[in-house]
Amino acid sequence: MAILVCGGAGYIGSHVVAALIEQHEEIVVIDRMAVGRQYAVLGGKLYNGDLNDRVMLDKIFKENEIEAVIHLSASSLVGESMTQPLEYYRNNVEGTLRLLEAMHKHCVDNIVFSSTAAVYGDPERIPIREDDRKIPRNTYGETKLAIERMLHWVEQAHGIKYVILRYFNVAGAHDNGLIGEDHDPETHLIPLAIQAALGQRENIMIFGDDYSTKDGSCIRDYVHVMDVAEAHLLAVNSLRNGGRSGVYNLGNSEGFTVKEVIETVKKVTGLAFPVQIASRRQGDPAVLIASPELIKDELNWSPKRSSLEKMVASAWEWHRTHPNGYAKGNEETWQKESQS
Ligand code: UFG
Repeated sequence: MAILVCGGAGYIGSHVVAALIEQHEEIVVIDRMAVGRQYAVLGGKLYNGDLNDRVMLDKIFKENEIEAVIHLSASSLVGESMTQPLEYYRNNVEGTLRLLEAMHKHCVDNIVFSSTAAVYGDPERIPIREDDRKIPRNTYGETKLAIERMLHWVEQAHGIKYVILRYFNVAGAHDNGLIGEDHDPETHLIPLAIQAALGQRENIMIFGDDYSTKDGSCIRDYVHVMDVAEAHLLAVNSLRNGGRSGVYNLGNSEGFTVKEVIETVKKVTGLAFPVQIASRRQGDPAVLIASPELIKDELNWSPKRSSLEKMVASAWEWHRTHPNGYAKGNEETWQKESQS
């Protein structure tokens, strides 16, 4: 029996695949390779395709004996979601609708779904608990919330059980040195600051230093990508063992300001780079910190890499050794590395 990983060639998906390999699972990956990278998939059977493609999905479910789905496929850039909302509804909501139709048709009734802290919008309190108010401030968060609701009703009607993981700020890279974060364009704070340290960009901009936080910059809750991958294993194992559906925050309950993150990048890399204050980025809440108590209690999740310095060091190790990510021209290195 195999686990189908949708979006398994992406940053987080590839780390989930690596964790499943360590658990000796049979893995099937579907990724449309829009942002996914072939060399990020360290094992399993890979289908290059879109979730909106019913024929392709049907073929995958027919060709493989799927027992559970881990669904990380999504368009996930907040800014882009505001200018291309229909694209986000199509890729995220319609894509998941097609996936659930296929699961229902082929009697697969367990799904782990990647959601986001963006469903909360401006939080009503810190740390954020799962039942707190959810008013997304952007289309991206809105599409994820729509899917969460869809999962709720689909379970009622068709018995498909789900674990929803609401990620906070995922960071770092795998200890194996083979996979890490490679977005194009890159929009996330830690990789951007590392690129500035490497001289790949002129500077790093702080989007707003007039928030009511201790140093005026936004606060976020960073969580290591390997701890995130581990949560997916716990979630899928829980569902397979008859566990019930649940919705969980995935964060470390500790917040760091943008300025603190930049200082940590300087410290870890030992490199100086220019920092500029820019205006606020539209749609950014001042503070996002998770209460992860529920996933600790119910799924026994215990993050092992929660120090910011270690997370930045792990990201630095990947970027230092792969300054061009999975870029073209690296194919030979990748083949050698993945064979060794
Ligand atoms: N930031 C800067 N300068 C930059 C980039 C980011 O100051 O060049 C700031 C942002 O304003 C924010 C913080 O650094 O305050 C973190 O920004 P990221 O872009 O790294 O991450 P976000 O918190 O915006 O987004 C993350 C996920 C989204 C998810 C969101 C949930 O990447 O997918 O958390 O709130 F929707």
